[in-house]
Amino acid sequence: MKNFDAIKHVRGESQFVDDILVPQGLLYGYVFYSTIAHGKIKKLDYSNALKIDGVIDVITAKDIPGENQIGGIIQDENLFAEETVHFVGHPIALVVAENQLQAHAGARAIECGFEKLPAIFDPREAFEKGEVIVPPRIFSLGDVNKAWKECDYIVEGKVESGGQEHLYLEVQGSFAYPTEGNGIKIISATQNPTAVQRTSARVLGIPMHKVEVDVVRLGGGFGGKEDQATAWAVMTALAAKKLNRPIKLILPRQEDIRLTGKRHSYSSDFKIGLKSSGKIISYEVTFYQNGGAAADLSPAILERTLFHTTNSYYIPNVRATGISCRTNLPSNTAFRGFGGPQAMFVMESAIYKAAQVMGVDPSFIQKKNLLKEGDEFPYGQKTKNCRAVRCYEEVESRYRISEIKKSIDEFNQTNRLYKKGVALMPVCFGISFTTTFLNQASALVHVYTDGSVSISTAAVEMGQGVNMKLHHIAAKMFSIDPKRVKIDTTNTSRVANTSPTAASKGADLNGYATIDACEIILKRLKKVAADELKKEDPSKIEIKNEIIFYDGNKTELIWQKLINAAYLKRVSLSAQAHHATPNIYFDREKSKGEPFAYHVYGTAIVEATLDCLRGTYTIDSVKVVHDFGESLFPIIDKGQAEGGIVQGIGWMTCEEVMHDKEGKLLTDALSTYKVPDIHFAPKDIQINFLEDVPNPYGPFKSKAIGEPPFMYGIGAFFAIMNAMRSFRPKMEIELKAPLTPERVLLSLYSEIPELTLQNK
Ligand code: MTE
Ligand code: HPA
Ligand code: MOS
Repeated sequence: MKNFDAIKHVRGESQFVDDILVPQGLLYGYVFYSTIAHGKIKKLDYSNALKIDGVIDVITAKDIPGENQIGGIIQDENLFAEETVHFVGHPIALVVAENQLQAHAGARAIECGFEKLPAIFDPREAFEKGEVIVPPRIFSLGDVNKAWKECDYIVEGKVESGGQEHLYLEVQGSFAYPTEGNGIKIISATQNPTAVQRTSARVLGIPMHKVEVDVVRLGGGFGGKEDQATAWAVMTALAAKKLNRPIKLILPRQEDIRLTGKRHSYSSDFKIGLKSSGKIISYEVTFYQNGGAAADLSPAILERTLFHTTNSYYIPNVRATGISCRTNLPSNTAFRGFGGPQAMFVMESAIYKAAQVMGVDPSFIQKKNLLKEGDEFPYGQKTKNCRAVRCYEEVESRYRISEIKKSIDEFNQTNRLYKKGVALMPVCFGISFTTTFLNQASALVHVYTDGSVSISTAAVEMGQGVNMKLHHIAAKMFSIDPKRVKIDTTNTSRVANTSPTAASKGADLNGYATIDACEIILKRLKKVAADELKKEDPSKIEIKNEIIFYDGNKTELIWQKLINAAYLKRVSLSAQAHHATPNIYFDREKSKGEPFAYHVYGTAIVEATLDCLRGTYTIDSVKVVHDFGESLFPIIDKGQAEGGIVQGIGWMTCEEVMHDKEGKLLTDALSTYKVPDIHFAPKDIQINFLEDVPNPYGPFKSKAIGEPPFMYGIGAFFAIMNAMRSFRPKMEIELKAPLTPERVLLSLYSEIPELTLQNK
């Protein structure tokens, strides 16, 4: 089974929103937005825009028949600004024209005057001024205050991690058209079709059943289309409704980068206390999350930061405070890892700095503190089937870590201007939406009379291969030729009240729902087969490769005949099933519970080479032992691991989101925003599957894969840091990501008195 999307992608035959054949009378939209970060709209005159050839209308908040409100967790976000704008890029109007160029020209002709108000971009400043999105959250275990007294070493520090642009290949876009009886159909590039449906209904003031949302596939989402595909879809719905014509809105790449939120940058303070043995006794941390102008998913992301405070380690005394700060930037949003990577970077930074103070290798501290079976996380859950130690030890022994370290030492002693570094990065990631109610999904399965099968679920395909996995599950359940199975589009009329495809839970939730729906049909089919074969016991019927067996013996009956017989007997060949992850809960008041169905474990060894004259570096290799459970689809899972790693390395190294003093994004094109390309990606990525690790909580004993490997990329930061310290041992360690070549160079040659070239 080759990835069935691959051929279509390569031939350019796959359909994305912008490729859907459009009906007659199509109009195009262009978003007009604020050019200041905070202020009052004093004047909005679009009469000149309407004079432009082809411009049909300018849609603003005044055209909204329902509520001008698109907030999810918190109702704090309007579709179009009314009196006040809160960030550069805040949408004010949608210009609608006969073609895209005319719509753009219309937007340029709008006259808009602002009265500027003070703006905040820094999360700590926002916190000081009381600008928080939700009250601070605290997760704690043991008693940190008492524990400091037991420590031989106490180390404090500040850690910064930057934002990250999603840079999905397909930009944000939507296409909507009016349907009979005041309805609307929306084809959106969203990870969350139900959010688009619910929010459109709310803004249009119509019931949800009048809104149908359909998603074919996305050219990547990475979390950037979990919440932030909604606004554009609602804009097209609103314009289509008002003008009674089909409307398409595709954000040009630069606008996409400017108008949408990124991974949250964080500024954090830590204090870590250890015994001389390397055992961590106590850990206190405060996370200042740069939320941007609206809540969006920030509170949930902050919560996942707190869940992953201690990464792969057991620490008996922990106090973690999370503060979601409101700033005048586009609202930051979900991005692979969902706040987890930010927490893990702080944890690893604390270990790194402590190791430096103690004069040991960070891996010495890592190993002393890895989670073991039954250890308690700060949120009360205890580990089950814990594989932290196994992954760490297997990667160490498989690649002979002591030899790697030795050869790096030798290299560094014999080379003056090139230095190498290595770091280990263990990862432990919790699987389930931390918002418990989202852990549900449904599937609708139809078997047609020709024996072909169609599967509809809540899962959105965005390149992660969930459709291949569901396809595989359905073919396996019925034991039929995979060619008979089709995964249908994600559609709110076929599968309702869906959770977003996110939290790496897409294959788990929708896989289980698909298994259950297939099971219902199978049960009916077995009864029909027993009848047809004039046998007593339907439970002795089995289908193997389209042939019906009874009590282990092959019969004359085959799949296609069986389906036909069922139809003639008026037995339903369709089934719907709903799956909800069992036994998970979380008490937000106490910040305790069992929020995760299970955890994913693994460890990476990351090696880097630094050019100490230029500050440039290569990430030479990433070697991983990862717990995939019993992989549903090894080649997809391996691809997810490799892609996640490169994306994680990008976040830590070359990708730098920068704004000017007025809050305008400076890095709004690929000329100024550097992402890893094939030359930058590690030449050598080795992904090893931990063996014999069936996961009792995943479909066919599999494990989720989408997000966890991203965090192996954090190892790149410390591998480069080690190479830098080999060049300049007394260098002041700045725990600030991304560690761009510029920052490396400045650190290597910053003016501190003892600067001399080492190893002359
Ligand atoms: N892989 C590709 N190719 N494209 C994507 O957009 N998104 C990631 C991950 N892998 C993404 C991807 C994110 S953020 C998540 S949460 C998961 O896929 C979602 O899919 P899953 O739940 O089916 O793993
Ligand atoms: N991951 C992704 N999206 C979410 C989550 C999560 O844990 N919780 C709520 N939305
Ligand atoms: Mo992924 S950040 O949960 O879409």
